[in-house]
Amino acid sequence: MAEESGEEYLFKIVLIGDSAVGKSNLLSRFARDEFDHNSKATIGVEFQTQVLEVDGKEVKAQVWDTAGQERFRAVTSAYYRGAVGALIVYDITRRTTFDSVKRWLDELNTHCDTAVTRMLVGNKRDLESIREVRTEEGTELAEEEGMFFIETSALDSTNVSKAFEIVIRDIY
Ligand code: GTP
Ligand code: MG
Repeated sequence: MAEESGEEYLFKIVLIGDSAVGKSNLLSRFARDEFDHNSKATIGVEFQTQVLEVDGKEVKAQVWDTAGQERFRAVTSAYYRGAVGALIVYDITRRTTFDSVKRWLDELNTHCDTAVTRMLVGNKRDLESIREVRTEEGTELAEEEGMFFIETSALDSTNVSKAFEIVIRDIY
């Protein structure tokens, strides 16, 4: 959905990844600068729109967030429809969430064409002491799959805006 209406651009970006990796908190940090220590698992679909300025033009990022858990997910094809960017999120403290990235990419590839800008996001980098996935592993996987890569913390804000901005700039 890269719609041009007058001076304005609207980009649909989807968040995907296992449950509890921090998708909803990345979105609330990006859109409202908020973090919730006790956030509940998402049910269905939510989205937030954030306005950014890129090269002097107003760009609207409509970021969609859904449940990592299968039983709470909404209709998959509708979720991906019109997306021009995707953040595939894992939790650096849980290797299983990194192992799932391939499955999320398979799903993305089923529903979106290869032109969608992809960003691999290793979240919770504030929890360095209990890290299970090395930074180089993220870098390698991203290179293999032709994605951008970044490590973030929704808790302390590290790289959150940057993750979205890199995707939006690439789309734009
Ligand atoms: P689903 O909606 O079930 O798919 O989960 P989600 O990926 O949206 O995860 P959510 O944002 O709800 O975060 C899950 C838990 O991780 C919550 O307790 C958050 O407070 C915590 N959390 C999220 N991001 C971070 C982070 O960067 N650092 C730390 N330490 N905790 C985080
Ligand atoms: Mg959520």
